[in-house]
Order: sequence, then C-alpha cells, then structure tokens
Amino acid sequence: MTETTAAPTIGTQLSGSPQPPGEETEQERQERVRADLEQDRPDQCRVIAMCNQKGGVGKTTTTIQLAGSLAEYGRRVLVLDGDPQGNATTGFRVGRPGPNDLTQAKVVLDVLDPLPLIRETRVPGIYALPASIDMSGLSTALRDTGAGLSLYRIMVDKLRPFFDDILLDQRPALDMDTDSQLVACDSAIIMTDVDEWSMDGLKMQLAQQARAMKRAERDDFDVIGLIIGRVQKPMGKFDTEVYKLLQNHRRVRCLGEVPVRAADLKEARNKGLPVTHYKKTARTDTAEFFRDIAQNAGLVKAA
Ligand SMILES: Nc1ncnc2c1ncn2[C@@H]1O[C@H](COP(=O)(O)OP(=O)(O)O)[C@@H](O)[C@H]1O
Ligand SMILES: [Mg+2]
Repeated sequence: MTETTAAPTIGTQLSGSPQPPGEETEQERQERVRADLEQDRPDQCRVIAMCNQKGGVGKTTTTIQLAGSLAEYGRRVLVLDGDPQGNATTGFRVGRPGPNDLTQAKVVLDVLDPLPLIRETRVPGIYALPASIDMSGLSTALRDTGAGLSLYRIMVDKLRPFFDDILLDQRPALDMDTDSQLVACDSAIIMTDVDEWSMDGLKMQLAQQARAMKRAERDDFDVIGLIIGRVQKPMGKFDTEVYKLLQNHRRVRCLGEVPVRAADLKEARNKGLPVTHYKKTARTDTAEFFRDIAQNAGLVKAA
C-alpha cells in the first residue's frame, strides 16, 4: 500500500471560521461527504466498542490501526471518537469542533442528524466522527435525561446505513456515557496491557458490560476478544504470569498482542495515518501485527 497523498479538507472550516476565497464552505463540505456516503451503501454494518476502563492500554492506537487494516480490505470505516480527549480525532488530523459548532454531545443529547459531523481522513475509506470537549459533561447530562442509556444507540443507528464498520473508541471509564456507547454497539474488543491490575480491570469491564446489557434488555452483545497491547519482552516473573492468564483467559479469546513499537507508531501518527497506510511503515512488523489481529478477530478474511 502506498502512502496516500490525497488530502481532503480535514477539520477546517467549522462554522464561525473565516472562509478562504475559492475554498468550499462548510455547507458544501457536508453535502459532498453526504453524497459520497450515499454511494455504494454497504449491506450490513458492524459496530465494535474498543474498550477498557483502564487508561493507557492502547485502545486509541489499536482503533486507528485496525481502521487501517479494514480500509486495506476495501471496507468503509467510521472511527467514532467516544473520548472527550479526542486522540482518535487528532490521530487522523481531524479538527475537534469548537463550542459554537455542532458537536457529538449535542447530536446525542438533542437527537440530531449525525451526518454533518462526519469528516474525511487522509485515508480513502476511513471517516471520523470527532470528539469534542463538551463530551466531558455527557455522562451527567445523559443521566439527567432519564433515557441516557439508549441515546448513543439512536445516533449510531442513523450512521449504520453508510459504513461497513464503526469502531467506537471509548474513554477509560465505567459511566453513563460509556454504558450508552456500549449499548449502541454489536460487540466489543477489549484492549489490555500486562500489569498488576490488568486481570482486575478486565473483570470490571466484563461485569460492567453485562450490567449495561441487562439494563438494555440485550442478550446478543458479543465480546470478540482481547488484545494485549504494549507488550515488552522479556518480562519479569509476575508479568509473565499475568500475560499467560490473559493469553488463556477462560472467558475471552486472546486475538493477539502488540509489542511496544514506539517509533513506527509515532512516525505514522505524525502524518495522521495508520501504520498500514504510511509508506515507510506499511511493510514493517508493526503493520503486520495489526493485519494479523484484524484477521484473528474475523474482521477481515485471510488473503
Ligand atoms: N504498541 C505500542 N508501542 C508503543 N507505544 C504505544 C503502543 N500502544 C500505545 N502506545 C502509546 O501508549 C500511550 C497510550 O496509548 P493509547 O492508545 O492512547 O491508550 P488508551 O486509548 O487506552 O488510553 C500513547 O502515548 C500511545 O502512543
Ligand atoms: Mg484513548
């Protein structure tokens, strides 16, 4: 795969921004993206939560990289950034909406059309729905509505007709917003690291998912598996024990692991690209690890 050079309008021209002469307006951008998404609509959409309430385990990194692996197979992917920190948004060099713009939080709470939020990324086939800082109050606001658990689902269901896959990058929390996001998904991939608290974190995540599904009266939610991120070898004795427990977890299948590979990931990220789509990293081990994980998870078929 060669580096993508096409650079569509990314996160610019949000409402209130001055309009440079000769460039498309925000209205024109929205209409163009909508027309693109209307073409060749997929038959079915799969919505996956990338989750763990433990922070810094590689959820966002893996979301970006799996999006790259899926796009290589010609799938149309939406990265839905569910974390107010917005790392998946900025990781694709997409701008975050400001306080006067339409935001994800406003769309969810006021049950608005989410399509105007969709942005192109530098990778053909990968779109992003950006996070915004007002999402930090979303949990309380959702609870206050009394119907918060179902509100993300309403938004996500409006997006399903346009994408093969929606990857929802969650924030590290067990709260109303993360529950509402989970209930909007068909399945989950749980990211974990190898750490003293990893097993406990995994147990809490599974328990929370079960509680949310029970409240939503759903019995069809499926945990695709877990991915062990930031693996550093050799490991000490204690970490080796945890690593083995994760690899052979009795409830969740291990889909693979991602070794610590800071240089490749950082270099591609600096370009706003997944490793699979950056010329210098597309053929490295790091890109191969993510391709393998996408295959093991059954997200794409082996070539
Ligand atoms: N395999 C990896 N190798 C090296 N650094 C990584 C790897 N995975 C994640 N990181 C880094 O670790 C930090 C946390 O990762 P991130 O994906 O943001 O986790 P989370 O979304 O779970 O909080 C980031 O700085 C990221 O660049
Ligand atoms: Mg994250």
